[in-house]
Amino acid sequence: MSDNFYTETTRAPETAFDVSLRPPVFSEFCGQEKVKERLTLMVEAARQRNDVLTHILLNGPPGLGKTTLAHIIANAVGSNIHCTSGPQIEKAGDLAGILTNLKKGDLLFIDEIHRLHPTIEEYLYPAMEDFRLDIIIDQGPNARSIQLDLPRFTLVGATTRAGMLTAPLRSRFGLTNRLDYYSSAELEQILMRSAGLLEIEVQSGGADEIATRSRGTPRVANALLRWVRDYAQVRADNIINRDIADRALAMIEIDNDGLDEMDLRILEAMIYKFDGGPVGLGSLAVAVSEDESTIEEVYEPYLIMQGYFKRTPRGRVAMPLAYAKLGVPSPQALQTELL
Ligand SMILES: Nc1ncnc2c1ncn2[C@@H]1O[C@H](COP(=O)(O)OP(=O)(O)OP(=O)(O)O)[C@@H](O)[C@H]1O
Ligand SMILES: [Mg+2]
Repeated sequence: MSDNFYTETTRAPETAFDVSLRPPVFSEFCGQEKVKERLTLMVEAARQRNDVLTHILLNGPPGLGKTTLAHIIANAVGSNIHCTSGPQIEKAGDLAGILTNLKKGDLLFIDEIHRLHPTIEEYLYPAMEDFRLDIIIDQGPNARSIQLDLPRFTLVGATTRAGMLTAPLRSRFGLTNRLDYYSSAELEQILMRSAGLLEIEVQSGGADEIATRSRGTPRVANALLRWVRDYAQVRADNIINRDIADRALAMIEIDNDGLDEMDLRILEAMIYKFDGGPVGLGSLAVAVSEDESTIEEVYEPYLIMQGYFKRTPRGRVAMPLAYAKLGVPSPQALQTELL
């Protein structure tokens, strides 16, 4: 189970569980204060002017609340939200279908917007800028372009890879928001809220233990809570305290710093197989038998943020913290010893 615990929980599309715990309004959305402040201000301004919100880009690692925020924004402006994702829009006709279905002020949420097909992206530019769609019908000498006027809508794009967005697309968003990993205190708040909704009894020590082992990610925190609840139900009278949380998480091999088996395999490969690096993403992926993009989007951002390794132009390089984690002396430490 632990082998792909995060992969499943952080990348699975949308479970009923996720949806049930999703905060519906800004006031229930913990953390990300700056982002929340900007978005509430925008919503307020648009409301005062009776205007449509400008296009918004939400960027950040999986499970930090991009989809949740899109729904909250729609709620706050009181408009409908239409959800789709980059890879789902295959043909210009698909996009035309979606856009012509919108009403004034509606939100169009495009998840994984970095995976939009380049030709679809071209169609999206005038739609975002001038609320106009130019489509070409027929082929060869009969080909002609028709223009459709669209209602003024708000595009909310979400991406885990802002770097992969083309410059023209990025520049058409009025506001870009980057979501950061959550602090343990914020995750604890989120856990207490979820526990309340699920009617689970969690003592603050238990919530703290789960929070510090959730890789700064609400989706992971909620998934771990669900697991710890199962454990407590079978082994501990349904009460989650620090000790029970610790034992439950140890059982799925999530260590004290929240690293799981795959995280450790990545660090071990870097240090034992590649001598601490620099190592390219491709070689690392092969060494741990995991998909390159999963390493890049799910595992690596947290490990880098925590300082286990860094990215350099020549590849990934293990940092002293990674050596300490595995209990081996780092080259830097050995060097100081020799001096
Ligand atoms: N700030 C928050 N407060 C409370 N719960 C949150 C918060 N952010 C996220 N969550 C919870 O975490 C879950 C995952 O969030 P969400 O689906 O919005 O992430 P995401 O950024 O869209 O991830 P992905 O990139 O994988 O699509 C939600 O179901 C919600 O319950
Ligand atoms: Mg999402």
